Amino acid sequence: MSLLSVSHLSLTIQDHSILHGVSLSVDEGEIVGLIGPNGSGKTTLFNVLSGFLKPTSGSVHYRGQDITNVSPSKRAKLGIGRVFQNFGIFREMTLEENVLVALEALPKQDRKNLGNLKDVVHGTLDMVGLLSHAKKKAGSLSGGQMRLLEIARTLKSGKTFFLLDEPTAGVSPKMTEQVADLIRQLKIEGKTVVIIEHDLPFISRICDRVIVMDVGRVVLTGKPQEVKKSKELQELYFGAELV
Ligand SMILES: Nc1ncnc2c1ncn2[C@@H]1O[C@H](COP(=O)(O)OP(=O)(O)O)[C@@H](O)[C@H]1O
Ligand SMILES: [Mg+2]
Repeated sequence: MSLLSVSHLSLTIQDHSILHGVSLSVDEGEIVGLIGPNGSGKTTLFNVLSGFLKPTSGSVHYRGQDITNVSPSKRAKLGIGRVFQNFGIFREMTLEENVLVALEALPKQDRKNLGNLKDVVHGTLDMVGLLSHAKKKAGSLSGGQMRLLEIARTLKSGKTFFLLDEPTAGVSPKMTEQVADLIRQLKIEGKTVVIIEHDLPFISRICDRVIVMDVGRVVLTGKPQEVKKSKELQELYFGAELV
């Protein structure tokens, strides 16, 4: 059974058809890249998967359960985590406090299982090379550092299935490698990830499978090497920066 199964999903907003019959599935432990030109509906699909938008038709199943009409907070409780394209960081709080807030939102038993919270907070910051900034206000970080903090925080939030929307946007090449390492670590831990990304070499390095969208449809899916070589992708991105 797939971890996530999306079936014939369509979304129309004010007569504007944004998703048309999207069907896809993701297995537990898979790292899946979701690519496609700007405006192809990737972020909208994430909004439907995390429950922020209700589809006009179609269904979403998670661990065999129909979650099509389940609220975002209930989906989060089921283990679905989302890193937003815009920062979800509290700028006036220190880095330590930002991580602590995420840990404190965990169910009591999960929090207990983590052990010493201070060690977990420091481990989380260390994971993304931000431990030396622990006492600084998050607002003083660079855009790239903030993104890493946001990712690290989400990854430590006890979730098992992650939706990452362009996690490396505005991040330096060195930090992009750190994000890749974080995702590889998630895979080792048996977690599942769907990642929207424009950087095809990055996607090829970390993903087991790639799904390509265009104008609200899934147009291609396969292993990164196959997708990269495919004629469809060449045509889709003809002249663009991606190939
Ligand atoms: N709330 C909305 N209302 C109307 N149109 C929207 C809304 N959100 C997104 N769109 C449109 O849906 C299409 C897909 O957008 P999006 O999902 O952001 O694409 P991507 O993430 O692939 O770049 C775009 O044409 C966008 O303008
Ligand atoms: Mg987007």
